Parts: sequence; structure tokens; C-alpha cells
Amino acid sequence: ATETHQQPEVNIGLVGHVDHGKTTLVQALSGSWTDQHSEEMKRGISIRLGYADATFRKCPEVEEPEAFTVEETCPDGSESEVLRTVSFVDAPGHETLMATMLSGAALMDGAVLVVSATEEVPQAQTEEHLMALDIIGVENIVIAQNKIDLVDRDQAVRNHEQIQEFVAGTVAEDAPIVPVSAQQEVNMDLLIDAVEREIPTPDREASDAARMFVARSFDINRPGTTWADLKGGVVGGSLVDGSLEAGEEIELRPGREVEEGGQTEWRPITTEVRSLQAGSQSVDVATPGGLLGVGTGLDPSLTKGDALAGQVAGEPGTLPPTHEAFEMDVELLDRVVGEDGDEIEEISTGEPLMLTVGTATTVGAVTSARSGECEVSLKRPVCAESGSKIAINRRVGARWRLIGIGTLK
Ligand code: GTP
Repeated sequence: ATETHQQPEVNIGLVGHVDHGKTTLVQALSGSWTDQHSEEMKRGISIRLGYADATFRKCPEVEEPEAFTVEETCPDGSESEVLRTVSFVDAPGHETLMATMLSGAALMDGAVLVVSATEEVPQAQTEEHLMALDIIGVENIVIAQNKIDLVDRDQAVRNHEQIQEFVAGTVAEDAPIVPVSAQQEVNMDLLIDAVEREIPTPDREASDAARMFVARSFDINRPGTTWADLKGGVVGGSLVDGSLEAGEEIELRPGREVEEGGQTEWRPITTEVRSLQAGSQSVDVATPGGLLGVGTGLDPSLTKGDALAGQVAGEPGTLPPTHEAFEMDVELLDRVVGEDGDEIEEISTGEPLMLTVGTATTVGAVTSARSGECEVSLKRPVCAESGSKIAINRRVGARWRLIGIGTLK
């Protein structure tokens, strides 16, 4: 129902092992998501960092927790009251998409960890995703114990105990565990109640300088569009601070690589905000929370094919510096997350690392390594502030594995 749609005010990650029911749960809470993100650019962002908005409501005449709903009409025929609109960031469960999960985690104000009651706890990505939340500092967590329709009472209780044991000592230690069936839409009211309590909308100052993490970028013109009809490049992502207004100038960093006299360097790009799409509608002013598509005055060839993914946008002159190399403090995990659980060796000079900083993922070569810190030279520069968290991945066998967390000096 577009007419009652509000701009989302908080981003909630949906994380957990493949097939444990993240997509089904988002659908149960938000209705069909192709409905809400029908346009090309939004669909594009959804595929990469699956987003869907859900409006949580409450029936004034009904007792809690049954009062919580996503329906506009209450069982007694009265109209429900809007609590708030949230945006779900649906992290892919497949193991090779860990980098996408980590860039998504940079945009999460809280998370729902989906754990299937039908399998032993933890499965590989359950553990890896929880570790990622820990690293990125996502502390407000609700655990959805899903597929309870497929297990008997004893199995559900045993699974609940396994979850409790698994999260002990982690960032999710005190997270409520809500038994649900996403497919049968059982206990959705309890889940909404838990999310409302555990994942509050962060305090943000609309007066702060705009800061947007770019997750995708597009050329939305169909092939063969004539010059007169050509639309400017679009960048998609999330505003984490401040607000953006149509007509405003923005800067993008690191920007673009330019070659001059045999030398290449990265130069920030400045452009105009021509249109804003927040949630499912066009707005004049966008505020943090949910997915944002920014139509710009840029040549679409600059934004084509995610060319600007991982960049940071904001008011000109207010963005953090661009780093082609940096020094970071390093905290290694004790062991590789997952079935094998090998011990993690110290980082050594010369080795390649895959680093996720904000929504940027880049490969860096270690130019100097000491215990607890190292220096890297990046293949693609990043725009980041001192103190930013960096997810550090090392190639282990055929894939990149999370080995630790860095803090930009
Ligand atoms: P990825 O996106 O691939 O990581 O998977 P996912 O976690 O999003 O899982 P998805 O929602 O696609 O669900 C996987 C399968 O489990 C589907 O066939 C769903 O229909 C089924 N499923 C999800 N939730 C439930 C549930 O509560 N009960 C039952 N019986 N089946 C469920």
C-alpha cells in the first residue's frame, strides 16, 4: 500500500545460514518485495544487498504481544497504528558472498539472526555472520528460531538450548530468542515486539553533514536512448548521517581515476543531486534509514556497472580522506570460523588481504607487518575516517576467510 508508505528510519540486517529462512521471513513481514522495489535501479540494489521495507503496526484495542502486526486492519475491524517503517538488509547466506555481507553490515543498525530449528547449531554461516556482526559492532540483535512448524516440542527446546550455548560470550549473549515459523507466519507479533524493544532507531542529527555509503551505481538508460533523453548516473546506498536534498551539490570519494602524463591519481567527483528515491517513492529530502537512490548529473558511463560502489558521498569538503595505503591496528580471531576451525597465523609482509571498509571491498598487499598492526597498499583506494573498522580476510584454499578486524589509524 504505497499511499501509507513511510520512509524507513532504521536498517535491520537479516543474517544467518543459507536456507534457514531469511527471505521467507522478510516476505512474511513486508509482503512481496518486488512489489515495493519495482524500478530498475532499486531492483538492482536489492539483488546485491537485498533490501525490503516493512511497516510495523499496533492494534490499539488488542493486548500485547498480539497487538503487533504488519496488517493495516486489526482482527476487530479497526485500523492499526503505525509504529515505524524499518528496512531489512538481507545478507546472502552463501559462503562466497561474505564480503557482501560485511559491506551490508556497515549499514546495519541492528540485526535479526535467523537460525533454523531443524539443524544442529551452529551451521557455518550462522557462526560467520555472528562473528561479522561482532566485528562491525552491530550490538542490537534478535534471534529468530525459525521453522518451528517442522520440529516437535523436545527438538525445539533442545535447539533453543544449543542457540543459548552458542551465543554465550558473544555480542548476541543477551539477545532474545523468538520461536517462529516464517512460512506459516507464526509468532510474527512476538518477533515485531522483540525488534521494537531491542533495535531502536538510532539518534541522528539531521543537521549533521550528509554521509552516504554507496553500495551500487547504475546507468539506468536503455540501450539506444537518445542524447536528449539520457538520464544522469544513479548511485544507490544508505545515508548514515545528515540529510540530502534535491538540488544540492555532493562530492564522491575516492572519485575517479585520472591519468595525466603517465601518472594516475584519484580525484573526488562533484555533482548535483537531481532526484531522490527513498523507500519506494520519490522525495525532496532524504534522511537516514533504508535504501536511497540518488539521481545525479554525472555522465552515466561513470556510474555504470557499480563503478562507484564502495565510495562515500556527502557535502563537498566534509568527507574523510582517501587512502591509497594505510596503517591499521589488527586483532586476529583465534581460529578460522567454520567446520575446519584452523588456527590463524600472524599476518606476514607481502601477503594479499581482502579488506572491507564501509561498503568498499578492496585487495591490499601487506607492505609491513608487526604483531598487532600492519601497513597495506591498496589496489583501489578507500575513503574512510581514522578509527573505522576493517574486516580482514585471507585467502585460505579456494576462498577468502575472515581472519580478524582492523582499526584504521
Ligand atoms: P538464502 O537467501 O539462500 O541464504 O536462504 P534464506 O535463508 O533466505 O532461506 P529461504 O527464505 O529461501 O528459505 C529456504 C527454504 O526454507 C524455502 O524452501 C522456504 O520455503 C523454507 N522455509 C523458510 N521458513 C520456513 C518455515 O518457517 N517453515 C518451513 N516449513 N519452511 C520454511
